[in-house]
Amino acid sequence: MNRRTHHGVLVVGAGLAGLSAALAAAPRKVLVLTDAPLSQGCSSAWAQGGMAAALAEDDSPAAHAADTVAAGAGLVDPVMARLLTEEGPGAVRALAALGAPFDRAADGGFAQSLEAAHSQPRVARVKGDQAGVAIMQAVVAAVLAAPHIAVLTGHRLRGLLQDAGGRVRGVVAEREGVLIEITAAATILATGGIGGLYAVTTTPAELRGEGLGLAALAGAVVADPEFVQFHPTAIDIGRDPAPLATEALRGEGAMLVGADGQRFMARYHPEAELAPRDVVARAIHAERQAGRGAFLDARGAVGPHFPEEFPAVFTACLSGGVDPRVQPIPVAPACHYHMGGIATDADGATSLPGLYAAGECASTGVHGANRLASNSLLEAAVFGARTGRAAANEPDPAPARIVRLVAPDLPDDAIQTLRTAMSRDAGVVRDADGLLRLLEVIDSLEAQHGRAAPLAVARLVATSALARTESRGGHFRADAPETDAVPRRTFVRWSDLLPANAWKYAAE
Ligand code: SIN
Repeated sequence: MNRRTHHGVLVVGAGLAGLSAALAAAPRKVLVLTDAPLSQGCSSAWAQGGMAAALAEDDSPAAHAADTVAAGAGLVDPVMARLLTEEGPGAVRALAALGAPFDRAADGGFAQSLEAAHSQPRVARVKGDQAGVAIMQAVVAAVLAAPHIAVLTGHRLRGLLQDAGGRVRGVVAEREGVLIEITAAATILATGGIGGLYAVTTTPAELRGEGLGLAALAGAVVADPEFVQFHPTAIDIGRDPAPLATEALRGEGAMLVGADGQRFMARYHPEAELAPRDVVARAIHAERQAGRGAFLDARGAVGPHFPEEFPAVFTACLSGGVDPRVQPIPVAPACHYHMGGIATDADGATSLPGLYAAGECASTGVHGANRLASNSLLEAAVFGARTGRAAANEPDPAPARIVRLVAPDLPDDAIQTLRTAMSRDAGVVRDADGLLRLLEVIDSLEAQHGRAAPLAVARLVATSALARTESRGGHFRADAPETDAVPRRTFVRWSDLLPANAWKYAAE
Protein backbone atom coordinates (compact mmCIF):
# COMPACT_ATOMS: atom_id res chain seq x y z
CA MET A 1 0.00 0.00 0.00
CA ASN A 2 1.45 3.36 -1.05
CA ARG A 3 0.61 6.47 0.96
CA ARG A 4 0.27 10.11 0.04
CA THR A 5 -0.85 13.15 2.03
CA HIS A 6 -2.61 16.00 0.26
CA HIS A 7 -2.88 19.24 2.25
CA GLY A 8 -6.07 20.47 0.65
CA VAL A 9 -9.16 19.26 -1.16
CA LEU A 10 -9.34 15.88 -2.83
CA VAL A 11 -11.88 15.58 -5.65
CA VAL A 12 -12.79 12.14 -6.98
CA GLY A 13 -14.31 12.40 -10.44
CA ALA A 14 -13.67 14.76 -13.31
CA GLY A 15 -17.08 15.47 -14.78
CA LEU A 16 -18.56 18.95 -14.65
CA ALA A 17 -19.38 18.75 -10.93
CA GLY A 18 -15.91 17.61 -9.90
CA LEU A 19 -14.07 20.10 -12.06
CA SER A 20 -16.40 22.96 -11.05
CA ALA A 21 -15.63 22.11 -7.44
CA ALA A 22 -11.89 22.01 -8.17
CA LEU A 23 -11.93 25.43 -9.86
CA ALA A 24 -14.03 27.01 -7.10
CA ALA A 25 -11.81 25.75 -4.29
CA ALA A 26 -9.01 28.17 -5.29
CA PRO A 27 -6.64 29.18 -3.88
CA ARG A 28 -6.72 25.95 -1.79
CA LYS A 29 -4.69 23.17 -3.36
CA VAL A 30 -6.86 20.59 -5.11
CA LEU A 31 -5.98 17.08 -6.22
CA VAL A 32 -8.39 15.57 -8.78
CA LEU A 33 -8.45 11.79 -9.16
CA THR A 34 -10.02 10.19 -12.19
CA ASP A 35 -9.80 6.76 -13.75
CA ALA A 36 -10.47 7.91 -17.31
CA PRO A 37 -8.59 10.62 -19.18
CA LEU A 38 -10.09 14.10 -18.76
CA SER A 39 -13.34 14.60 -20.69
CA GLN A 40 -13.84 10.85 -20.93
CA GLY A 41 -15.70 8.43 -18.70
CA CYS A 42 -18.12 11.09 -17.45
CA SER A 43 -21.74 11.70 -18.41
CA SER A 44 -21.20 15.46 -18.58
CA ALA A 45 -19.29 15.17 -21.84
CA TRP A 46 -22.10 13.08 -23.30
CA ALA A 47 -24.88 15.53 -22.47
CA GLN A 48 -26.64 16.70 -25.58
CA GLY A 49 -29.43 19.01 -24.50
CA GLY A 50 -27.59 21.80 -22.70
CA MET A 51 -28.04 23.89 -19.57
CA ALA A 52 -31.42 25.14 -18.45
CA ALA A 53 -31.30 28.68 -17.04
CA ALA A 54 -33.60 31.71 -17.02
CA LEU A 55 -31.55 33.78 -19.43
CA ALA A 56 -34.34 35.27 -21.54
CA GLU A 57 -35.90 38.62 -20.64
CA ASP A 58 -39.36 37.13 -20.38
CA ASP A 59 -38.14 34.28 -18.15
CA SER A 60 -37.33 34.25 -14.44
CA PRO A 61 -35.61 32.00 -11.90
CA ALA A 62 -38.98 31.72 -10.17
CA ALA A 63 -40.60 30.31 -13.33
CA HIS A 64 -37.68 27.91 -13.80
CA ALA A 65 -37.96 26.86 -10.15
CA ALA A 66 -41.71 26.29 -10.55
CA ASP A 67 -41.09 23.98 -13.53
CA THR A 68 -38.37 22.15 -11.60
CA VAL A 69 -40.71 21.64 -8.66
CA ALA A 70 -43.59 20.50 -10.90
CA ALA A 71 -41.41 17.97 -12.78
CA GLY A 72 -40.13 16.59 -9.46
CA ALA A 73 -43.61 15.29 -8.54
CA GLY A 74 -43.79 16.62 -5.00
CA LEU A 75 -40.29 15.76 -3.82
CA VAL A 76 -38.20 18.74 -4.90
CA ASP A 77 -36.77 20.77 -2.06
CA PRO A 78 -38.02 24.26 -2.97
CA VAL A 79 -35.11 26.01 -1.26
CA MET A 80 -32.65 24.05 -3.39
CA ALA A 81 -34.67 24.68 -6.54
CA ARG A 82 -34.59 28.42 -5.82
CA LEU A 83 -30.84 28.35 -5.26
CA LEU A 84 -30.26 26.39 -8.46
CA THR A 85 -32.38 28.60 -10.63
CA GLU A 86 -31.20 31.89 -9.13
CA GLU A 87 -27.55 30.93 -9.60
CA GLY A 88 -28.26 29.34 -13.00
CA PRO A 89 -27.84 32.33 -15.31
CA GLY A 90 -24.56 33.27 -13.61
CA ALA A 91 -23.29 29.71 -14.01
CA VAL A 92 -24.03 29.70 -17.76
CA ARG A 93 -22.34 33.11 -18.17
CA ALA A 94 -19.31 31.90 -16.21
CA LEU A 95 -18.97 28.87 -18.50
CA ALA A 96 -19.35 31.10 -21.55
CA ALA A 97 -16.58 33.29 -20.13
CA LEU A 98 -14.37 30.18 -19.86
CA GLY A 99 -14.96 29.64 -23.58
CA ALA A 100 -18.02 27.37 -23.79
CA PRO A 101 -19.40 28.34 -27.21
CA PHE A 102 -23.12 28.53 -26.47
CA ASP A 103 -25.35 29.22 -29.50
CA ARG A 104 -26.27 32.88 -29.77
CA ALA A 105 -29.43 34.64 -30.93
CA ALA A 106 -29.30 37.50 -33.46
CA ASP A 107 -29.10 40.06 -30.59
CA GLY A 108 -26.02 38.30 -29.11
CA GLY A 109 -27.97 36.77 -26.21
CA PHE A 110 -28.11 33.04 -25.54
CA ALA A 111 -30.25 31.07 -28.01
CA GLN A 112 -32.79 29.07 -26.00
CA SER A 113 -34.40 25.80 -26.96
CA LEU A 114 -37.48 24.06 -25.61
CA GLU A 115 -37.40 20.73 -23.80
CA ALA A 116 -40.11 18.70 -22.12
CA ALA A 117 -41.85 20.09 -19.02
CA HIS A 118 -40.29 23.56 -19.39
CA SER A 119 -42.95 26.24 -19.68
CA GLN A 120 -40.86 28.12 -22.22
CA PRO A 121 -37.65 27.74 -24.27
CA ARG A 122 -34.90 27.87 -21.63
CA VAL A 123 -32.06 25.57 -22.60
CA ALA A 124 -28.75 27.13 -23.60
CA ARG A 125 -27.21 24.73 -26.07
CA VAL A 126 -24.18 24.34 -28.31
CA LYS A 127 -24.60 23.47 -31.99
CA GLY A 128 -27.77 21.49 -31.40
CA ASP A 129 -26.46 18.53 -29.43
CA GLN A 130 -22.85 19.42 -28.57
CA ALA A 131 -23.33 21.13 -25.19
CA GLY A 132 -21.71 18.53 -22.95
CA VAL A 133 -18.56 18.02 -24.96
CA ALA A 134 -18.08 21.75 -25.63
CA ILE A 135 -18.63 22.77 -22.01
CA MET A 136 -16.23 20.09 -20.81
CA GLN A 137 -13.56 21.22 -23.28
CA ALA A 138 -13.72 24.75 -21.86
CA VAL A 139 -13.70 23.57 -18.24
CA VAL A 140 -10.88 21.07 -18.77
CA ALA A 141 -8.76 23.82 -20.36
CA ALA A 142 -9.39 26.03 -17.33
CA VAL A 143 -8.50 23.19 -14.94
CA LEU A 144 -5.26 22.42 -16.77
CA ALA A 145 -4.32 26.10 -16.60
CA ALA A 146 -5.20 26.48 -12.91
CA PRO A 147 -2.08 26.55 -10.71
CA HIS A 148 -3.95 25.28 -7.64
CA ILE A 149 -5.16 22.05 -9.33
CA ALA A 150 -3.25 18.81 -9.97
CA VAL A 151 -4.93 15.98 -11.87
CA LEU A 152 -4.08 12.30 -11.55
CA THR A 153 -5.67 10.15 -14.25
CA GLY A 154 -5.65 6.34 -14.19
CA HIS A 155 -6.68 6.35 -10.51
CA ARG A 156 -9.78 4.32 -9.72
CA LEU A 157 -11.69 4.84 -6.47
CA ARG A 158 -11.53 1.70 -4.34
CA GLY A 159 -12.27 2.84 -0.83
CA LEU A 160 -12.61 5.55 1.80
CA LEU A 161 -10.43 6.35 4.80
CA GLN A 162 -12.20 7.10 8.06
CA ASP A 163 -11.11 7.92 11.57
CA ALA A 164 -12.71 6.62 14.76
CA GLY A 165 -15.01 9.66 14.90
CA GLY A 166 -16.42 8.86 11.47
CA ARG A 167 -14.58 11.72 9.74
CA VAL A 168 -13.63 10.85 6.19
CA ARG A 169 -9.88 11.38 5.85
CA GLY A 170 -9.41 10.61 2.16
CA VAL A 171 -9.63 7.69 -0.20
CA VAL A 172 -8.00 4.50 -1.35
CA ALA A 173 -7.31 4.60 -5.07
CA GLU A 174 -5.99 1.92 -7.38
CA ARG A 175 -3.41 2.65 -10.05
CA GLU A 176 -2.15 -0.14 -12.27
CA GLY A 177 -3.15 -2.73 -9.68
CA VAL A 178 -1.47 -0.94 -6.75
CA LEU A 179 -3.56 0.53 -3.93
CA ILE A 180 -2.69 4.04 -2.71
CA GLU A 181 -4.01 5.71 0.44
CA ILE A 182 -4.46 9.43 -0.11
CA THR A 183 -5.36 11.52 2.92
CA ALA A 184 -6.74 15.04 2.57
CA ALA A 185 -8.41 17.81 4.54
CA ALA A 186 -11.67 17.34 2.67
CA THR A 187 -12.87 14.73 0.19
CA ILE A 188 -15.41 15.53 -2.53
CA LEU A 189 -17.07 12.62 -4.28
CA ALA A 190 -18.18 13.59 -7.79
CA THR A 191 -18.28 10.07 -9.13
CA GLY A 192 -21.38 10.32 -11.31
CA GLY A 193 -24.40 8.10 -11.66
CA ILE A 194 -25.39 4.45 -11.80
CA GLY A 195 -26.11 3.87 -15.50
CA GLY A 196 -23.69 0.95 -15.57
CA LEU A 197 -25.95 -0.94 -13.16
CA TYR A 198 -28.60 -1.22 -15.88
CA ALA A 199 -28.52 -3.37 -19.02
CA VAL A 200 -28.88 -0.34 -21.27
CA THR A 201 -27.64 3.11 -20.31
CA THR A 202 -27.07 6.42 -22.02
CA THR A 203 -24.08 7.09 -19.74
CA PRO A 204 -20.58 5.62 -19.72
CA ALA A 205 -21.10 2.00 -18.61
CA GLU A 206 -18.23 2.21 -16.11
CA LEU A 207 -20.37 4.47 -13.91
CA ARG A 208 -21.66 2.00 -11.34
CA GLY A 209 -22.26 4.14 -8.31
CA GLU A 210 -18.90 3.40 -6.64
CA GLY A 211 -18.80 6.72 -4.77
CA LEU A 212 -22.39 6.41 -3.62
CA GLY A 213 -21.92 2.78 -2.55
CA LEU A 214 -18.73 3.48 -0.61
CA ALA A 215 -20.24 6.51 1.11
CA ALA A 216 -23.27 4.45 2.10
CA LEU A 217 -21.08 1.64 3.44
CA ALA A 218 -19.15 4.24 5.45
CA GLY A 219 -22.40 5.36 7.08
CA ALA A 220 -23.48 8.37 5.02
CA VAL A 221 -27.18 9.15 4.71
CA VAL A 222 -28.48 8.40 1.23
CA ALA A 223 -31.55 10.16 -0.16
CA ASP A 224 -34.16 8.92 -2.63
CA PRO A 225 -32.16 6.03 -4.12
CA GLU A 226 -35.26 4.49 -5.73
CA PHE A 227 -35.63 7.40 -8.15
CA VAL A 228 -33.91 6.53 -11.39
CA GLN A 229 -34.65 8.41 -14.60
CA PHE A 230 -34.97 6.54 -17.87
CA HIS A 231 -34.46 8.65 -20.95
CA PRO A 232 -37.33 7.87 -23.31
CA THR A 233 -35.42 8.12 -26.55
CA ALA A 234 -32.19 6.20 -26.45
CA ILE A 235 -31.43 5.14 -30.01
CA ASP A 236 -32.25 1.44 -30.24
CA ILE A 237 -29.49 0.11 -32.48
CA GLY A 238 -28.27 -2.61 -30.14
CA ARG A 239 -25.45 -0.56 -28.62
CA ASP A 240 -24.35 -0.42 -24.99
CA PRO A 241 -24.14 2.34 -23.95
CA ALA A 242 -27.00 3.47 -26.17
CA PRO A 243 -26.59 6.81 -27.95
CA LEU A 244 -29.17 9.44 -27.13
CA ALA A 245 -31.68 11.15 -29.38
CA THR A 246 -31.86 14.40 -27.44
CA GLU A 247 -35.16 15.67 -26.14
CA ALA A 248 -34.42 18.89 -28.02
CA LEU A 249 -35.53 17.00 -31.13
CA ARG A 250 -39.01 16.75 -29.69
CA GLY A 251 -38.71 20.40 -28.74
CA GLU A 252 -38.12 21.07 -32.44
CA GLY A 253 -41.27 19.13 -33.35
CA ALA A 254 -40.06 15.54 -33.86
CA MET A 255 -42.90 13.08 -33.23
CA LEU A 256 -43.12 9.69 -31.55
CA VAL A 257 -44.77 7.11 -33.77
CA GLY A 258 -45.38 3.37 -33.79
CA ALA A 259 -44.29 0.94 -36.48
CA ASP A 260 -47.50 1.93 -38.30
CA GLY A 261 -46.34 5.56 -38.46
CA GLN A 262 -49.16 6.78 -36.16
CA ARG A 263 -48.46 9.13 -33.25
CA PHE A 264 -49.28 7.66 -29.85
CA MET A 265 -48.31 10.16 -27.15
CA ALA A 266 -51.69 11.95 -27.11
CA ARG A 267 -53.15 8.75 -25.66
CA TYR A 268 -50.86 9.13 -22.66
CA HIS A 269 -50.62 12.84 -21.82
CA PRO A 270 -52.11 16.15 -23.01
CA GLU A 271 -48.59 17.51 -23.61
CA ALA A 272 -47.94 14.54 -25.93
CA GLU A 273 -44.24 14.44 -26.97
CA LEU A 274 -43.42 17.20 -24.47
CA ALA A 275 -44.92 15.42 -21.47
CA PRO A 276 -42.62 14.89 -18.47
CA ARG A 277 -39.79 12.50 -19.20
CA ASP A 278 -41.09 9.68 -16.97
CA VAL A 279 -44.47 9.73 -18.71
CA VAL A 280 -42.87 9.53 -22.16
CA ALA A 281 -40.52 6.74 -21.04
CA ARG A 282 -43.43 4.65 -19.72
CA ALA A 283 -45.47 5.29 -22.86
CA ILE A 284 -42.64 4.10 -25.10
CA HIS A 285 -42.07 1.11 -22.83
CA ALA A 286 -45.78 0.22 -23.06
CA GLU A 287 -45.89 0.61 -26.85
CA ARG A 288 -42.88 -1.62 -27.25
CA GLN A 289 -44.23 -4.20 -24.79
CA ALA A 290 -47.46 -4.26 -26.81
CA GLY A 291 -45.43 -5.01 -29.93
CA ARG A 292 -46.28 -1.74 -31.65
CA GLY A 293 -42.70 -0.41 -31.61
CA ALA A 294 -41.59 3.18 -30.99
CA PHE A 295 -39.76 5.53 -33.34
CA LEU A 296 -38.78 9.18 -33.27
CA ASP A 297 -39.77 10.72 -36.55
CA ALA A 298 -37.69 13.86 -37.10
CA ARG A 299 -37.94 13.86 -40.89
CA GLY A 300 -40.25 16.87 -40.97
CA ALA A 301 -38.83 18.74 -37.96
CA VAL A 302 -35.14 18.43 -38.85
CA GLY A 303 -34.83 16.38 -42.04
CA PRO A 304 -31.95 17.50 -44.28
CA HIS A 305 -30.53 19.78 -41.54
CA PHE A 306 -29.52 16.86 -39.28
CA PRO A 307 -25.78 16.97 -40.02
CA GLU A 308 -25.44 20.64 -38.96
CA GLU A 309 -28.20 20.86 -36.35
CA PHE A 310 -27.84 17.55 -34.48
CA PRO A 311 -24.45 16.14 -35.51
CA ALA A 312 -24.08 13.67 -32.61
CA VAL A 313 -27.52 12.14 -33.16
CA PHE A 314 -26.93 12.05 -36.91
CA THR A 315 -23.60 10.25 -36.58
CA ALA A 316 -24.98 7.77 -34.04
CA CYS A 317 -27.95 6.94 -36.26
CA LEU A 318 -25.77 6.43 -39.32
CA SER A 319 -23.50 4.11 -37.32
CA GLY A 320 -26.55 1.91 -36.73
CA GLY A 321 -27.69 1.98 -40.33
CA VAL A 322 -30.46 4.56 -39.82
CA ASP A 323 -30.55 7.81 -41.82
CA PRO A 324 -32.69 10.11 -39.65
CA ARG A 325 -33.13 12.56 -42.52
CA VAL A 326 -35.34 10.03 -44.27
CA GLN A 327 -36.11 7.33 -41.69
CA PRO A 328 -37.76 7.35 -38.25
CA ILE A 329 -35.25 6.55 -35.47
CA PRO A 330 -35.95 3.38 -33.43
CA VAL A 331 -36.03 4.37 -29.73
CA ALA A 332 -36.26 2.69 -26.34
CA PRO A 333 -35.98 3.95 -22.76
CA ALA A 334 -32.54 3.56 -21.16
CA CYS A 335 -31.14 4.40 -17.74
CA HIS A 336 -30.09 8.02 -17.91
CA TYR A 337 -29.85 9.71 -14.52
CA HIS A 338 -30.02 8.95 -10.81
CA MET A 339 -32.04 11.50 -8.86
CA GLY A 340 -31.06 9.82 -5.61
CA GLY A 341 -27.62 9.93 -4.11
CA ILE A 342 -25.56 10.87 -1.07
CA ALA A 343 -27.69 13.34 0.87
CA THR A 344 -26.07 16.78 0.95
CA ASP A 345 -26.85 20.28 2.09
CA ALA A 346 -26.65 23.29 -0.23
CA ASP A 347 -22.86 23.30 0.08
CA GLY A 348 -22.31 19.64 -0.68
CA ALA A 349 -21.72 18.59 2.93
CA THR A 350 -22.81 15.01 3.62
CA SER A 351 -23.77 13.50 6.97
CA LEU A 352 -20.14 12.38 7.42
CA PRO A 353 -17.65 15.05 8.51
CA GLY A 354 -14.93 15.67 5.94
CA LEU A 355 -17.00 14.14 3.12
CA TYR A 356 -18.69 16.23 0.43
CA ALA A 357 -20.56 15.15 -2.67
CA ALA A 358 -21.56 16.95 -5.86
CA GLY A 359 -23.22 16.15 -9.16
CA GLU A 360 -25.12 13.00 -9.92
CA CYS A 361 -23.74 10.96 -7.01
CA ALA A 362 -25.20 13.57 -4.63
CA SER A 363 -28.80 14.26 -3.75
CA THR A 364 -29.36 17.92 -3.03
CA GLY A 365 -33.11 17.42 -3.33
CA VAL A 366 -33.28 19.60 -6.40
CA HIS A 367 -34.50 16.87 -8.76
CA GLY A 368 -37.17 15.25 -6.59
CA ALA A 369 -38.76 12.20 -8.18
CA ASN A 370 -38.02 13.25 -11.75
CA ARG A 371 -35.32 15.60 -12.98
CA LEU A 372 -36.34 18.40 -15.28
CA ALA A 373 -34.58 18.25 -18.65
CA SER A 374 -31.19 19.99 -18.81
CA ASN A 375 -31.10 20.69 -15.08
CA SER A 376 -28.25 18.22 -14.52
CA LEU A 377 -25.35 20.13 -16.08
CA LEU A 378 -26.73 23.16 -14.31
CA GLU A 379 -26.79 21.38 -10.96
CA ALA A 380 -23.26 20.10 -11.56
CA ALA A 381 -21.96 23.62 -12.21
CA VAL A 382 -23.90 25.44 -9.48
CA PHE A 383 -23.64 22.92 -6.64
CA GLY A 384 -20.20 21.75 -7.77
CA ALA A 385 -18.86 25.28 -7.27
CA ARG A 386 -20.68 25.70 -3.96
CA THR A 387 -19.19 22.41 -2.78
CA GLY A 388 -15.67 23.36 -3.83
CA ARG A 389 -15.89 26.66 -1.94
CA ALA A 390 -17.19 24.98 1.22
CA ALA A 391 -14.67 22.11 1.14
CA ALA A 392 -11.82 24.60 0.72
CA ASN A 393 -12.58 25.91 4.21
CA GLU A 394 -11.95 22.56 5.91
CA PRO A 395 -8.77 22.81 7.99
CA ASP A 396 -6.22 20.01 7.86
CA PRO A 397 -7.38 17.65 10.65
CA ALA A 398 -5.07 16.48 13.42
CA PRO A 399 -3.38 13.13 12.78
CA ALA A 400 -5.47 10.15 13.87
CA ARG A 401 -5.68 6.41 13.50
CA ILE A 402 -7.31 5.71 10.18
CA VAL A 403 -9.46 2.78 9.13
CA ARG A 404 -9.50 1.70 5.51
CA LEU A 405 -12.83 0.73 3.96
CA VAL A 406 -12.07 -1.04 0.68
CA ALA A 407 -14.94 -2.81 -1.04
CA PRO A 408 -14.28 -5.86 -3.21
CA ASP A 409 -14.39 -5.63 -6.98
CA LEU A 410 -17.20 -7.28 -8.87
CA PRO A 411 -16.15 -9.49 -11.80
CA ASP A 412 -17.62 -8.81 -15.23
CA ASP A 413 -20.00 -11.76 -15.27
CA ALA A 414 -21.47 -10.66 -11.94
CA ILE A 415 -21.89 -7.11 -13.27
CA GLN A 416 -23.75 -8.47 -16.29
CA THR A 417 -26.03 -10.55 -14.06
CA LEU A 418 -26.73 -7.48 -11.94
CA ARG A 419 -27.39 -5.25 -14.95
CA THR A 420 -29.90 -7.68 -16.42
CA ALA A 421 -31.70 -8.04 -13.09
CA MET A 422 -31.78 -4.28 -12.44
CA SER A 423 -33.32 -3.54 -15.85
CA ARG A 424 -35.86 -6.31 -15.48
CA ASP A 425 -36.88 -5.64 -11.89
CA ALA A 426 -35.99 -2.03 -10.99
CA GLY A 427 -36.55 -0.49 -14.40
CA VAL A 428 -39.25 1.69 -15.96
CA VAL A 429 -42.01 -0.42 -14.36
CA ARG A 430 -41.53 -2.21 -11.03
CA ASP A 431 -43.54 -4.41 -8.68
CA ALA A 432 -42.97 -6.14 -5.35
CA ASP A 433 -42.40 -9.59 -6.85
CA GLY A 434 -39.73 -8.27 -9.20
CA LEU A 435 -38.01 -6.23 -6.51
CA LEU A 436 -37.90 -9.24 -4.16
CA ARG A 437 -36.46 -11.32 -7.00
CA LEU A 438 -33.84 -8.61 -7.55
CA LEU A 439 -32.91 -8.65 -3.87
CA GLU A 440 -32.37 -12.40 -4.11
CA VAL A 441 -29.99 -11.84 -7.04
CA ILE A 442 -28.13 -9.20 -5.02
CA ASP A 443 -27.95 -11.55 -1.98
CA SER A 444 -26.53 -14.30 -4.11
CA LEU A 445 -23.94 -12.06 -5.81
CA GLU A 446 -22.94 -10.66 -2.43
CA ALA A 447 -22.52 -14.16 -1.02
CA GLN A 448 -20.22 -15.04 -3.92
CA HIS A 449 -18.23 -11.82 -4.28
CA GLY A 450 -18.59 -9.83 -1.07
CA ARG A 451 -20.19 -6.45 -0.49
CA ALA A 452 -19.04 -4.64 -3.62
CA ALA A 453 -20.07 -0.99 -3.99
CA PRO A 454 -22.35 -1.61 -7.03
CA LEU A 455 -24.19 -4.28 -5.03
CA ALA A 456 -24.62 -1.87 -2.13
CA VAL A 457 -26.14 0.69 -4.51
CA ALA A 458 -28.39 -1.89 -6.15
CA ARG A 459 -29.61 -2.93 -2.71
CA LEU A 460 -30.37 0.68 -1.78
CA VAL A 461 -32.35 1.13 -5.00
CA ALA A 462 -34.25 -2.13 -4.61
CA THR A 463 -35.09 -1.84 -0.91
CA SER A 464 -36.21 1.76 -1.26
CA ALA A 465 -38.29 0.94 -4.34
CA LEU A 466 -39.89 -1.90 -2.41
CA ALA A 467 -40.61 0.31 0.58
CA ARG A 468 -42.20 3.00 -1.62
CA THR A 469 -45.63 1.48 -2.19
CA GLU A 470 -46.83 4.25 -4.48
CA SER A 471 -45.94 5.57 -7.93
CA ARG A 472 -44.29 8.95 -8.28
CA GLY A 473 -42.08 10.46 -10.96
CA GLY A 474 -39.45 8.00 -12.15
CA HIS A 475 -40.63 5.32 -9.70
CA PHE A 476 -43.63 3.46 -11.11
CA ARG A 477 -45.07 0.46 -9.29
CA ALA A 478 -47.46 -1.59 -11.44
CA ASP A 479 -48.82 -3.02 -8.18
CA ALA A 480 -49.23 0.44 -6.58
CA PRO A 481 -50.02 2.84 -9.41
CA GLU A 482 -51.54 5.59 -7.24
CA THR A 483 -49.60 8.53 -5.82
CA ASP A 484 -49.76 9.09 -2.06
CA ALA A 485 -51.45 12.30 -1.00
CA VAL A 486 -48.53 13.29 1.19
CA PRO A 487 -45.15 13.29 -0.54
CA ARG A 488 -42.21 12.00 1.46
CA ARG A 489 -38.57 11.70 0.59
CA THR A 490 -36.52 8.65 1.47
CA PHE A 491 -33.52 9.07 3.76
CA VAL A 492 -31.71 5.85 4.54
CA ARG A 493 -28.49 4.68 6.16
CA TRP A 494 -26.80 1.38 5.39
CA SER A 495 -27.41 0.29 8.99
CA ASP A 496 -31.16 0.56 8.29
CA LEU A 497 -30.70 -2.34 5.87
CA LEU A 498 -29.04 -4.74 8.29
CA PRO A 499 -30.63 -8.18 8.12
CA ALA A 500 -33.14 -7.57 10.87
CA ASN A 501 -34.59 -4.63 8.99
CA ALA A 502 -33.72 -5.63 5.46
CA TRP A 503 -36.40 -4.61 2.96
CA LYS A 504 -38.56 -3.24 5.75
CA TYR A 505 -37.27 0.12 6.86
CA ALA A 506 -39.78 2.92 6.72
CA ALA A 507 -39.01 5.70 4.29
CA GLU A 508 -39.30 9.03 6.05
C1 SIN B 1 -31.40 15.29 -23.65
O1 SIN B 1 -30.71 15.97 -24.38
O2 SIN B 1 -32.48 14.81 -23.99
C2 SIN B 1 -30.92 14.99 -22.28
C3 SIN B 1 -30.84 16.20 -21.50
C4 SIN B 1 -30.95 15.89 -20.06
O3 SIN B 1 -30.83 14.75 -19.67
O4 SIN B 1 -31.21 16.80 -19.30
